Amino acid sequence: MLRKSTAILWLIALFAVAQCLEEEETHRFCNDLSCAPRERLLEVIREMQEDKMQSPYRGAHPNAFIEFEHTSKNKNPLKVSQLDDAAVNTTCSICNMDPPPCLNGGTCQADPNHPFTKYRNTTCGINTDCSVRNHQIICQCKPGYLGNPRLGCKAQTIRTCADGDPHFKSFDGLYYDYQGTCPFIYSEPCTSLEAPFNYYSVKAKSELAGTGAHVSYIREVEVEFYTLRIHVDGNKRTVYVNGIKTCVPYYWPSKSNPRISVKYNSGTFFIQNDQNVLVTYDWTGRLCLQVPNIPQFQGNDTLCGIAGNINKNKADDVKFKNGTVLPLANPNARQPTKDNGIIFNKAEDTWITDDFLKLRNASCINGEQLFNNSDCDPTKAIARCDPIQKAMGGSGPFALCKDMDNETIQEFYDDCVFDVCHIPTDDCVSLQTFVRECMWMLPGI
Ligand SMILES: *[C@@H]1O[C@H](CO)[C@@H](O)[C@H](O)[C@H]1NC(C)=O
Ligand SMILES: *[C@@H]1O[C@H](CO)[C@@H](O)[C@H](O)[C@H]1NC(C)=O
Ligand SMILES: *[C@@H]1O[C@H](CO)[C@@H](O)[C@H](O)[C@H]1NC(C)=O
Ligand SMILES: *[C@@H]1O[C@H](CO)[C@@H](O)[C@H](O)[C@H]1NC(C)=O
Ligand SMILES: *[C@@H]1O[C@H](CO)[C@@H](O)[C@H](O)[C@H]1NC(C)=O
Ligand SMILES: *[C@@H]1O[C@H](CO)[C@@H](O)[C@H](O)[C@H]1NC(C)=O
Ligand SMILES: *[C@@H]1O[C@H](CO)[C@@H](O)[C@H](O)[C@H]1NC(C)=O
Repeated sequence: MLRKSTAILWLIALFAVAQCLEEEETHRFCNDLSCAPRERLLEVIREMQEDKMQSPYRGAHPNAFIEFEHTSKNKNPLKVSQLDDAAVNTTCSICNMDPPPCLNGGTCQADPNHPFTKYRNTTCGINTDCSVRNHQIICQCKPGYLGNPRLGCKAQTIRTCADGDPHFKSFDGLYYDYQGTCPFIYSEPCTSLEAPFNYYSVKAKSELAGTGAHVSYIREVEVEFYTLRIHVDGNKRTVYVNGIKTCVPYYWPSKSNPRISVKYNSGTFFIQNDQNVLVTYDWTGRLCLQVPNIPQFQGNDTLCGIAGNINKNKADDVKFKNGTVLPLANPNARQPTKDNGIIFNKAEDTWITDDFLKLRNASCINGEQLFNNSDCDPTKAIARCDPIQKAMGGSGPFALCKDMDNETIQEFYDDCVFDVCHIPTDDCVSLQTFVRECMWMLPGI
């Protein structure tokens, strides 16, 4: 049964549909762009840069999702909060966390009769939780952040992405292709996450690039945070929350104190919870998931799905859903290799799920069926993708991207050759995907 307040909220959402996403941008960059003239490419980059300058995510303190894998400058980041905890005297009556309740409501204000003695500075750094116990101010990094809580904590994050045909890179760095068009589990905890982290789930569905194609693109993404199921239709650039078409930006439960936010900017959806789990999805089919890179997310059997676990071991990133690891002869090679195509696809197919909003024709083809060694002539593709390779040497239209590391540029180049070889009209999307990543990694550009 629908609660009345929920129903009213949904009605409001429906009335607001008129103000939904502008369609204008849909194929602004690529549709009638052959990508041939270098001048046009430069123009595209300039447009994207301008867009980026207007992005709300820009700035000195970007929302956590612009931040990458930060390492703390502080050598003993945990020390201070441990000290703080040790300083708690549970017999104190001023502000115990347990009954009797905090006399000052748990805010970081000293009781006038019992001023703080240990620290004069009564502010915690950014990304911290502040509380008062035993006449003392307690600063602790928010979950998923590390650092000195008095000076500020930084997000420790790790990212996995899928784009193009789709090409995947697991959390641990395994490269692989999986083309099945059935909804699949991209990433979710195998069971549950250690407190204070909540369950999350990211699923995706690809569609074939064209009739008879052997490759596909991610066209729909479904994210579960708390009790919400956020479904993004990349084709129509529409967002559904628990099945109801919804405008973005969207905040839950409230804009002032969101535990979930869904935003849209320059072709990319940002779906984030308050635990620094961030899903980005853009209309070229690029899906990324960023999670805190901390013990609660690490380990052999903590995270499941096609994106793999987080344990710095790419050799165990292809798993059957029953937990059996598919041994890889060469984990440094892009999977599947010539020899393991069928079994690789069988393993990834075990992550197919029915539990996914059905928007269109729900029939699908799994990876094993779709897998077929189609030959293609890479000569033309190599010429088309050359601008990406040139970036390594700091020349060509993407010269500015040379500061990305060579390995990353090489991967984008390989992806581009693979894609353009299979779908020659794909060159624009490949180049654009590269540009977006370049801008993500080098925010100053
Ligand atoms: C805790 O606080 C009480 C009351 O202020 C004091 O009598 C006691 O000695 C303190 N205990 C410790 C371990 O500091
Ligand atoms: C307290 O520390 C913070 C962070 O170091 C600093 O920005 C702030 O100015 C300090 N406040 C006072 C009153 O010293
Ligand atoms: C994780 O798996 C590897 C083998 O893939 C094993 O050597 C290691 O002991 C496992 N670690 C834990 C904590 O289970
Ligand atoms: C998991 O499934 C695969 C493929 O069906 C099978 O080879 C393997 O033995 C299974 N493992 C377990 C533990 O059941
Ligand atoms: C759904 O897709 C399948 C395979 O792509 C196709 O054979 C079928 O005719 C489609 N059904 C509808 C109703 O469009
Ligand atoms: C693979 O492709 C070839 C040629 O297109 C076709 O004859 C064959 O049936 C396909 N195999 C599978 C398993 O789909
Ligand atoms: C990256 O590759 C280019 C061209 O091959 C080379 O000139 C450059 O030195 C390489 N950079 C690094 C850091 O290896």
